[in-house]
Amino acid sequence: MMNKENIPKHIAVIMDGNGRWAKQRGKSRVFGHKNGVVAVNDFVECSAEIGVKYLTLYAFSSENWNRPDYEVNALMQLLVVTIKKEIDKLNKNNIRLQVIGDVESLPSKTRKILLEAIKSTENNDRMTLILALSYSSKWEIMEAVKSIAKKVENNEISSDQVTEELFEQHLNTSDYPDPELLIRTSGENRISNFLLWQIAYSELYFTDKLWPDMRKADLIDAIEDYQSRERRFGKTSEQIESA
Ligand code: IPE
Ligand code: IPE
Ligand code: MG
Repeated sequence: MMNKENIPKHIAVIMDGNGRWAKQRGKSRVFGHKNGVVAVNDFVECSAEIGVKYLTLYAFSSENWNRPDYEVNALMQLLVVTIKKEIDKLNKNNIRLQVIGDVESLPSKTRKILLEAIKSTENNDRMTLILALSYSSKWEIMEAVKSIAKKVENNEISSDQVTEELFEQHLNTSDYPDPELLIRTSGENRISNFLLWQIAYSELYFTDKLWPDMRKADLIDAIEDYQSRERRFGKTSEQIESA
């Protein structure tokens, strides 16, 4: 049974397996991506319902630009159609949309609708839905390093002031807490350049299910698994129990 008192504040998801899902059905990879939207809607709805405050979805990595043009274009187009279709529902459900990643690298149509949706939902406060688009953690970390180096160079800060906190303020995720739970679907046990800094102490949950098959019950399963774990943060089990 899920404990309603111990819901992760922030859940991050590597939505993987769309291509294989489509292949199993003799369809094109793009068919898999389209069906992945059903799972996205389920995860967003369920997270908001149970009181998750931040949901980050890895939708397109920096490395995904290396896929065939037709697939990249279809994904960018699918983003436009999906965001357009969902803006009203996000507002109705009081959900704020945010993005992390290299927004400048997105095609102008995709960027435009994305920024519109972010603007239109900016005052919603039930849950924040964060899309990772053209995102990679190494890119994000390098951007932070470069911007801090510039500040030191310009004597705006001294090198002693470069702390963990200052570094975090320069990440795309500066406004959000670190995820307690990271979910990856499709049986791949890797991180694929996602939130490397932020998942330092996250609980990792891997499932063999392909992303388009994921439903509310699967999210609840992942949360129950998370709740069964003891998060020790370097301490001993005895210390945690007596706290
Ligand atoms: C995840 O599914 C979606 C994106 C990376 C955009 P994939 O497209 O990676 O599906 P598989 O891993 O090839 O099955
Ligand atoms: C990770 O999936 C990126 C997203 C889910 C957007 P990939 O399918 O691109 O990951 P790798 O390359 O197989 O690790
Ligand atoms: Mg994949």
